[in-house]
Amino acid sequence: MRALVTGGSRGIGAATAHALFSAGMDVAVHAHRHRALAERVAAGGRSANREGFVVMGDLSEADGVRAVAEALRERWDSLDVLVLNAGTYDRIPFRSVTDAALQECFQLHVFAPFALTRELLPLLQRSPAGRVVFVSSVLAFAGSSHGAHYASAKSAVLGLARSLAKELAPTITVNVVAPGSIDTSILASDSPAKRIERARSVPLGRVGSASEVAEAIAFLASPAASYVTGATLHVNGGLRSD
Ligand SMILES: NC(=O)c1ccc[n+]([C@@H]2O[C@H](COP(=O)([O-])OP(=O)(O)OC[C@H]3O[C@@H](n4cnc5c(N)ncnc54)[C@H](OP(=O)(O)O)[C@@H]3O)[C@@H](O)[C@H]2O)c1
Repeated sequence: MRALVTGGSRGIGAATAHALFSAGMDVAVHAHRHRALAERVAAGGRSANREGFVVMGDLSEADGVRAVAEALRERWDSLDVLVLNAGTYDRIPFRSVTDAALQECFQLHVFAPFALTRELLPLLQRSPAGRVVFVSSVLAFAGSSHGAHYASAKSAVLGLARSLAKELAPTITVNVVAPGSIDTSILASDSPAKRIERARSVPLGRVGSASEVAEAIAFLASPAASYVTGATLHVNGGLRSD
């Protein structure tokens, strides 16, 4: 099976690429700036006798989306798994969110997954059982006190995924993973006190790891999830369950 993981250089995306390699898949590892990190992830797959290579592109620009799709089409004529994970979380008070920041956020989290899925649909349709997995956020459900732009975009992802689950059935399943507080660069600015407070707010008493989210993505990407579509899998330690 062949998979593309956007934002595969670090964090949840890198852990997902590792999990998919471990499941026996070939993986195209996408990155924006950190090619060397992505090359390391891809090399890990090759050392396990899987095909692993890097595709670069800035998904906050329409040209970048087209470049990623083109790079993939040059290499593969079919695709089984598309994981739409690339993203950033800039904490900005509502009154300071400029139109440009709002547009960039929606481009990266909504337009790019939308357009990339559309661009790669002919390849996914050549798979006997295509899988699309979007990465949203617990903040799509809980809201954010310093990221209305981000929470709005992550909510839009839910509507997109649920719609595609209907429209692309029965050959392609489309699901969402909604992580809670996960230990990646997104939490890197936490002070030690904030980190303790964050862990205490989670019923399971700690933040999650990138690999715990990756395992959920890998399940939805696997043949084991053949009757799951239009679903959101929460990976948040009990923060929300709606
Ligand atoms: N960590 C959390 O607590 C958490 C919680 C809920 C949801 N999420 C979501 O989970 C996903 C992965 O986040 P993470 O925590 O793993 O973050 P991360 O470690 O910061 O990784 C972000 C990834 O996205 C890529 N990326 C960033 N900007 C991009 C752009 N303009 N174009 C293309 N790719 C870009 C990065 O590529 P480069 O390395 O090349 O820059 C990197 O691979 C995101 O969608 C995020 O919103 C995370």
